[in-house]
Amino acid sequence: MRLIVTDGADAAGHAAAELLAERITRAPKFRLGVATGSSPESTYRHLAALLPPRPHAIELFALDEYIGLPRGHAQSYEETLKQGIASLLNLDLGSVHVPDAWHSDPTAAGLRYDALLANHGGIDLQILGIGANGHIGFNEPFSEFGSRTRRVALTEETRRANSRFFATVDQVPTYAMTQGISNILAASAVLLIATGQHKPDALVAAIEGPIAWACPASALQLHRDVTVVCDSAAASSLTQTIPTPPARRQGANNVRLR
Ligand code: F6R
Repeated sequence: MRLIVTDGADAAGHAAAELLAERITRAPKFRLGVATGSSPESTYRHLAALLPPRPHAIELFALDEYIGLPRGHAQSYEETLKQGIASLLNLDLGSVHVPDAWHSDPTAAGLRYDALLANHGGIDLQILGIGANGHIGFNEPFSEFGSRTRRVALTEETRRANSRFFATVDQVPTYAMTQGISNILAASAVLLIATGQHKPDALVAAIEGPIAWACPASALQLHRDVTVVCDSAAASSLTQTIPTPPARRQGANNVRLR
């Protein structure tokens, strides 16, 4: 695991974008797993500036999608991918893939998304944020590490946290489709971005705590290629790990014990 700690959220976005740009430009085509939410917003902006201004051979795969929002709703993750990320990166809308949260049979929709991921050859790099409760995607605490794309219930904590994107908390959906933890672990590489004062506890549990269902992000300790980029606010409670010095950022296993 590599840990990069920056001064401020925007610098974290820039560091994450540099890492992404380096990997994307050396691959002829790139299957990018994308998180939505606030944490990776500046990463996508910086990435757009770092990539050459031509359509890239990038396919975007959403981690999750709310159930219950009408198609085209501004807060649906499909719209965020289309109007936000794909448009920033100058990508064809055909390159955007989202779990079908409008399907009448969520089990079938989950299986179909898993098959789509497999048919595309899997994800080259999965971008993740982390919930204050340690969730990744919408895999809330006690999600099984073997879980795959499926319908899940959102916790009240998650609904309250996401209510900032809606007029009231009652408008935040109660259910979502999410890739499972085993989908996330199947990505060739993972880039976790954590910024701000609501994330220290979750980050400590994820990278210094025991691997435990209570913190879904702790499953990332089982992955062979994880980079965590965070700002100093999110890193403020880390005690066991120290950040990777800039010169060693490209190497593996750069997190050292204090
Ligand atoms: C979003 C997602 C979530 C968020 C997490 C953090 O697609 O899967 O896991 O990454 O809730 O959200 P922010 O970044 O808004 O704090």
